[in-house]
Amino acid sequence: MRPDTPLTIYEIRCADKESRALFDKADLRAIMGPKLLGYHFEADFAFVFCEGDADIGGLLSSIPGLTLSQVHRLRYDEWQDGANAPPLVIGPLAIYPPSWAGPKAPPPKVSPNPVHGHLSPFAPLVIDPGLAFGYGGHATTKACLSFLLRVYSPQGKGAPKVCLDLGTGTGVLALASARMGAERVLGVDYSHLAIEIARENLAMNQLGDKVSFVYGEAADFASYEAGLVLSNIPLAVHLDLLGKGAYADRRYLILSGLLPSEADTLTKRLLGSYPYKLIDNQRDDRWSSWLLGAE
Ligand SMILES: C[S@@+](CC[C@H](N)C(=O)[O-])C[C@H]1O[C@@H](n2cnc3c(N)ncnc32)[C@H](O)[C@@H]1O
Repeated sequence: MRPDTPLTIYEIRCADKESRALFDKADLRAIMGPKLLGYHFEADFAFVFCEGDADIGGLLSSIPGLTLSQVHRLRYDEWQDGANAPPLVIGPLAIYPPSWAGPKAPPPKVSPNPVHGHLSPFAPLVIDPGLAFGYGGHATTKACLSFLLRVYSPQGKGAPKVCLDLGTGTGVLALASARMGAERVLGVDYSHLAIEIARENLAMNQLGDKVSFVYGEAADFASYEAGLVLSNIPLAVHLDLLGKGAYADRRYLILSGLLPSEADTLTKRLLGSYPYKLIDNQRDDRWSSWLLGAE
């Protein structure tokens, strides 16, 4: 999407589960026309993204229980941090926006002291953030990427073949895991917008033989078998996942999306329940990210 694309975001309250379910089933494109870009839910609200103003009246009248709460108007690059992002290099992994990709893209520079013994670069990833979270540059995503480099380091023992990425957003961590060596990766997100863009990113990076993305609640995948679980998500979701056993018996856990005090709460509970070791922690003044392992 061009950085100056006008976005109109309709914030719509859904009165109950029924109105939300009807919303999910409706053919929104037929109702709203070509300006519709996509939508996702947060708590009781649907956020409907359009390229400029669209006819929202048809949607409100066709599904009972919907009320328009707010309308936000801004440019794509005011909403999406990654809209103008330059290529990002983390050790031997380079992540390019689609505008930089292609044969002219400069090869990633491997630092003289490559992270954890990765001596040659991986094939670069191309990530279009679209309307989802995770072009790679956020502190939490960067921390998770550097933990992934450690898990999949040439010196590492028993790097997991199967990986579960809960709250996948653009799919950046799922795709990076596959680039680094995971053989099968499942990315899950409860945002339709995220899953749509993650699938586009999957096709762009030609990793369809290893990675798949599904729409759903993270907790519904708590018992999915994987040696590595990545979750860059809010504390409440982490706690729900912990309660449902999602963090039991993994070889590695990469956990982020936490404020330092929240990270303390989570790691205390986690380490009280399971015999993981703290392998690494990255913290800035806002975010805390953790690599735990059963090493
Ligand atoms: C902070 S973003 C992380 C995106 C990407 N994994 C990264 O590291 O850049 C969190 C993502 O989790 C998703 N999410 C939040 N709660 C969720 C839940 N309960 N189930 C599934 N996905 C959830 C959001 O839609 C969002 O895409």
